[in-house]
Amino acid sequence: MTDLSVNIAGVKLKNPIITASGTFGNGREISEYYDLSQLGAVCVKAITLKPRQGNPPPRIAETPSGILNSVGLQNGGIDYFLKYELPNLKRYDTKVIANISGSTVEENCELARRLGRDVDLIELNISCPNVKQGGVSFGTDPKIAAEITARVKESCAVPLIVKLSPNVTDITEIAKAAENAGADALSLINTLLGMKIDVNTRRPVLANNTGGLSGPAVKPVAVRMVWQVFLCTRLPIIGMGGIMTGEDAAEFMIAGASAVAVGTANLVTPTAALNVKNELVGYLEKRGIKNVSELIGSVLAY
Ligand code: FUM
Repeated sequence: MTDLSVNIAGVKLKNPIITASGTFGNGREISEYYDLSQLGAVCVKAITLKPRQGNPPPRIAETPSGILNSVGLQNGGIDYFLKYELPNLKRYDTKVIANISGSTVEENCELARRLGRDVDLIELNISCPNVKQGGVSFGTDPKIAAEITARVKESCAVPLIVKLSPNVTDITEIAKAAENAGADALSLINTLLGMKIDVNTRRPVLANNTGGLSGPAVKPVAVRMVWQVFLCTRLPIIGMGGIMTGEDAAEFMIAGASAVAVGTANLVTPTAALNVKNELVGYLEKRGIKNVSELIGSVLAY
């Protein structure tokens, strides 16, 4: 029997498969297709203090091998999350990761305090490219990334994951800053800033003009960044960016990820995360690998 369990900052996941924030409707829709208890963890859509409507539509556009989104952190706010979303997720035997996306340092601290120990891990989103305040502006300067990490960490009762942006010159600088400031784990990558223009109307396809690119188009960038961050920090990494198959998941783990998040694939196939898990098991069994952790950082780089 293959041991699929992995450890993220002292939290044991039964397997390394997580649903990426914002891609599975906080579980309600996808739970009609399979039992969420089969996942290592679920990471919920960004939570803010007050409810947010998000950006005006259109805010999703298909691109070659990917999608652009400019959702703008639409969510019901922390009160709604604690009252309606979290109790539903707690019915499942899986870990819950809360993605917090406050527009100020103080808002993120308040969110972490309000969540307390009601979730298993907190993911601090310093990488959303679709908002004017907060978001990626926290995650592109090592000093600012360190400051927000340290402040939010003080308010966290559970381990803190910091979610990194690929929209930087050197992601290792931000990763090291977050590690030195007290992050317990890192997740990467969030989306790559992109744009699509309708050549007939000459209008951007997204009402926000730009959006975040995800899906298989970004996977080589994500794998490269996971590898670079694995080499320069000691923190567990949750790797994501275009994972569609079990072999994609294995690739991220070989690059250095301790767990992986499936995102865009959920929008194509509702059972994608479960399929990735089953395919990963097949990959391991075929090679006689008894423990999935053997993959972590095992790349034979030149
Ligand atoms: O626009 C959004 O809600 C995206 C969030 C993110 O990429 O973190």
